[in-house]
Amino acid sequence: MSRPRILTGDTPTGRLHIGHWVGSLENRVRLQDDHDCYFLIANVHAFTTRAADPAAIRRDTLDLVKDWLAAGVDPERATLVLQSEIRAIAELTWYLAMLLPVNRVLRNPTLRAELDDKQLGDSYSFGFPLYTVGQCADILAFRAELVPVGADQAAHVEMCREVARRFDQVYCGVPPTTADADHVAAGGVFPIPEAMIGRVGRLVGIDGVRKMSKSMANAIYLSDSTQDIRAKVARLHTGRQAITDPGALDSSLMQYVRAFLPDPERVRVLENRYARGDHIGDGEIKAEVATAIDALVAPMRERRAAFDGARGDARVLDLLRAHTVRASAVADATLDLARAAMQLDFAGAR
Ligand code: TRP
Repeated sequence: MSRPRILTGDTPTGRLHIGHWVGSLENRVRLQDDHDCYFLIANVHAFTTRAADPAAIRRDTLDLVKDWLAAGVDPERATLVLQSEIRAIAELTWYLAMLLPVNRVLRNPTLRAELDDKQLGDSYSFGFPLYTVGQCADILAFRAELVPVGADQAAHVEMCREVARRFDQVYCGVPPTTADADHVAAGGVFPIPEAMIGRVGRLVGIDGVRKMSKSMANAIYLSDSTQDIRAKVARLHTGRQAITDPGALDSSLMQYVRAFLPDPERVRVLENRYARGDHIGDGEIKAEVATAIDALVAPMRERRAAFDGARGDARVLDLLRAHTVRASAVADATLDLARAAMQLDFAGAR
């Protein structure tokens, strides 16, 4: 009953890739064993940049759930949270927005980076910066204690911690000197959540420069075929010319070696020979990396195929319906607590 509660999620933007796996997905699948897990599909956030594309967002939403199930998310143990179905999140976003100075929100480094990456200029929607506050509400509506995410999301969790402390202080009388871990014991509605960064905080893409991301067209997808994987890994550029050239251990190829070869001893041997240029070719290492990635995603590819087509869509929709009932009950209960703390419980709690 007292398993620590987790909330994390993804924005539906297309297929998941191996950067998602090492950054967070792998953690989530493992944490299902001994944590109370909530996995959120941030489909409302998808509208912040694609408001005119509801059909694509709906398709990406179903695809995201399919990718999760294929990767090992277990709907018997974890609760799927479809953001647009949980009305309490929208209401809580509004309340939390009043506790954050607008400049604080606009200074969020992840938000700034996205404005640059997506080249949104100054024509982005009002809702775009608001999504960061919405993300705080996602986490707090479930009173989560842990948030397993990739390194790029740490800034959002930090903002969530700030707003949770502020809510507890302003509306629940929690003294400002209270340790984060003691907020609920001191009468706060919200635990102060902690980020849990994945094994590889930031995986470089196959361009060897930027973070792996769908929008950068540099990703290896969980659903890629064996041939796709081989071809993509073969494209990794290292700048080495000969098998006796000393190689850089921080090259993208060696990052993949560390991220995906299952045997740590083999990783050490390869690093050692590569660094010294001990008669080892990039091609040889690439073949080994491609084989390891393929072995990782092969079972996912197989499970994913079971959700193909309209029958697969129907299964996912059934699942989302059932899980929405569970998730709404939790978030509604939190909202009642928050409204009461804010002296907004005029008509009484539900
Ligand atoms: N912003 C996250 C991403 O795009 C998705 C997300 C939305 C999220 N709400 C969340 C992640 C709450 C963790 C917790 O990857």
